[in-house]
Amino acid sequence: MAKYVAVAGKGGVGKTTFTALMLRQMIREKKGISILAVDADPNANLNEVLGLEVTATISDLLEETKNPKSIPTGMPKDVFVQYKLQQSLVESKDIDLLVMGGPQGPGCYCYPNDLLRKYLEDLGENYDFVAVDTEAGLEHISRRTIPHIDIMFVISDSSARGIRSAGRVNDLIRGLKAEVGEVYLVVTKTVPDSLDSLADEIAVTGLKVIGDIPLDPLVVTQDLAGKALYDLPDEAVSVQAVEKIVRRAGILN
Ligand SMILES: Nc1ncnc2c1ncn2[C@@H]1O[C@H](COP(=O)(O)OP(=O)(O)OP(=O)(O)O)[C@@H](O)[C@H]1O
Ligand SMILES: [Mg+2]
Repeated sequence: MAKYVAVAGKGGVGKTTFTALMLRQMIREKKGISILAVDADPNANLNEVLGLEVTATISDLLEETKNPKSIPTGMPKDVFVQYKLQQSLVESKDIDLLVMGGPQGPGCYCYPNDLLRKYLEDLGENYDFVAVDTEAGLEHISRRTIPHIDIMFVISDSSARGIRSAGRVNDLIRGLKAEVGEVYLVVTKTVPDSLDSLADEIAVTGLKVIGDIPLDPLVVTQDLAGKALYDLPDEAVSVQAVEKIVRRAGILN
């Protein structure tokens, strides 16, 4: 069964950067491993940092199934939905990507939940490793469209507010019915004294710090140019920090 790793945290803290660098490391070190990346953030952009093109999200495709006229004559609706879901997978040499897309209508995901859950469960069987880039509300995990999580990385930037928010995400995780294994805190965009200065705030959250990712000028320039983080050099401080973290978490041995 695939190992499921999720990355959560409030907006702009560095979730997608962490996810991309984790995937970069997996691809380089685990030759031949099959990887599925799931972008479960309504404001999806994991594809950009991975350098992949997405034509349709799951939300877009499911929207099409709502119009009875779009269903081919004689085809049962659930078969049509399944057929549409299969079209959402972006396949590339190293990694496949699934983009969930935004809510359909105000605040409502309105997915045919059972069909989507079944599709993701079956799809997950084909991979060794599934990485989910999610948002702070953990919508897809709380709705259990994503079956279970082995490791959850909660990301915070180097601010007291970020850490408090990570604490709230941790509370949310604890309250979920979904199975979640290990939960770790990753502090991003750190400068030399960040972890010491934030120690008291971190203690309140009860989260275990698995590592930090220093503020990396190479991440900034790569993002400024709209280039894939995938292509950062091995020497980049962010790349090295993420490598240590995934090793400590037992994802890489
Ligand atoms: N280690 C780092 N060093 C420097 N800049 C960073 C670092 N990590 C992230 N950033 C910058 O912070 C910004 C937000 O990063 P990112 O998109 O990864 O966050 P996010 O949590 O996925 O955001 P969103 O909630 O919008 O999806 C980006 O401009 C990125 O370049
Ligand atoms: Mg993001």
